[in-house]
Amino acid sequence: MAQEDHFKNLVAHCKEYGYVFQSSEIYDGLSAVYDYGQYGVELKNNIKKYWWDSMVLLHENIVGIDSAIFMHPTIWKASGHVDAFNDPLIDNKDSKKRYRADVLIEDHIAKIETKIDKEVKKAGKRFGDSFDEKIFMETNPRVLANREKIDRLTSRYSKALNDNNLDEIKQIIVDNEIVCPVSGTRNWTDVRQFNLMFSTEMGSTADGSMKIFLRPETAQGIFVNFLNVQKSGRMKLPFGIAQIGKAFRNEIVARQFIFRMREFEQMEMQFFVKPGTELEWFKHWKDIRMKWHQSLGFGEENYRFHDHEKLSHYANAATDIEFKFPFGFKEVEGIHSRTDFDLTQHQKYSGKKMQYFDPETSESYVPFVVETSIGVDRMFLQIISAAYTQEEIRKSNGTTDSRVVLRLPPALAPVKLAVLPLVKKDGLPEISRKIIDDLKFDFNCQYDEKDSIGKRYRRQDAIGTPFCITIDHQTTEDNTVTIRYRDTMEQERVAIDKLKETISEKVDMRRLLRQ
Ligand code: GAP
Repeated sequence: MAQEDHFKNLVAHCKEYGYVFQSSEIYDGLSAVYDYGQYGVELKNNIKKYWWDSMVLLHENIVGIDSAIFMHPTIWKASGHVDAFNDPLIDNKDSKKRYRADVLIEDHIAKIETKIDKEVKKAGKRFGDSFDEKIFMETNPRVLANREKIDRLTSRYSKALNDNNLDEIKQIIVDNEIVCPVSGTRNWTDVRQFNLMFSTEMGSTADGSMKIFLRPETAQGIFVNFLNVQKSGRMKLPFGIAQIGKAFRNEIVARQFIFRMREFEQMEMQFFVKPGTELEWFKHWKDIRMKWHQSLGFGEENYRFHDHEKLSHYANAATDIEFKFPFGFKEVEGIHSRTDFDLTQHQKYSGKKMQYFDPETSESYVPFVVETSIGVDRMFLQIISAAYTQEEIRKSNGTTDSRVVLRLPPALAPVKLAVLPLVKKDGLPEISRKIIDDLKFDFNCQYDEKDSIGKRYRRQDAIGTPFCITIDHQTTEDNTVTIRYRDTMEQERVAIDKLKETISEKVDMRRLLRQ
């Protein structure tokens, strides 16, 4: 199935099975804002727990905080967001549609990439088993010409962005004959900057109100609390502060479902270190964070680092962890060595010292910071797109059937087990209820007695429940039940009093954290 169709089906599945809904849907929706349904919220909470425990539980030198969304407006001046948190915008005069100029160029580059992919696929078909992709890529004149086009365009475009040269960005669009996807014309306005922060008023206007911003990242709430945490927790360098919370960005191009949203959630950790040691810590956190992702078992080949060649003025190293989404490799997490930029800026703008007294050297200094920053929603999309599988199954009578299954890591699955009486009589529902009453303190359980057992299995597969427990007439005789495993569909007979132990071992988050 084409990746595009696969992604459309995934989005539809998320709605049909209570994972993600369009916000304000009955009012035709609010663009790039989403609500999480009954299963979505459980998966989201499990993702947050996996992250929080891996940071705060497993590291004695990392503590968590929960800072307010509203913060003093000068914080955003100090951090650079008021002056520089911008996207370059361009309008098409015919369609009246507004675009991010950088995205138009990136889409154009992606189209050239697609041409290369098509050449490779065509050649693969023509040459069959004797096809050597590497040699083809290195020698085919059309591939080489397109590759050169991409390289030239990428370097011109990166330079224009870095120099904040809006005229040059427009010129790139003109030179490459990029057209508006709606009107198909090249009738463009000039490119101008657009600040991504949402603002609101705090206080009544009669008393004089203050313009404040909805935070575009949670990190600043950590920076401004650095000394509060360090002093009250008697923390010694190196140490980290972790936070999970909402962030808001007025994204112009909000696409790809929950990949780019206007209201989203971040999990950020700022690790404060002695100046001069930050690049070692940067490498350390790169390794740890990649392992955290790969422990989920979605295949190492689906992750890669994208090291930033051009760095922001405050960073001395930065990388993204990218995951292979149905629409290609894209950033899920950023790891940035942010030097002492943020603390120094807050020191300057607040007039308060943001220094650490090092008892070992008896010196005071502004620590350097290595940050790990990941979007909860993007992590959610990573997991759900890797887990969503449509498969053909061969039945014992030789016929075929199909099923949709969410192969979620059991520790993250919203419902851990479903208890299904084979029939609605003969005491089987009562035994099922008793099992749930015993297990509900440990696991999120679901009871289902409606429809055939086959249909009930399919429903559980579709929401990603790793275990179905079937209660049948044999249960009334020997207190055993059947466990049916979601991924293999194999079944096993176990004693009721062994259920808790059998399931605990498989859904325990510690299994993930230990890796
Ligand atoms: N404090 C650093 C920071 O905010 P970022 O690269 O802008 O860095 C970090 O964002 C992560 O937040 C991204 O890797 C992504 O997972 C998530 N993120 C950023 N913008 C987002 C958006 N509009 N919608 C969903 N997730 C977003």
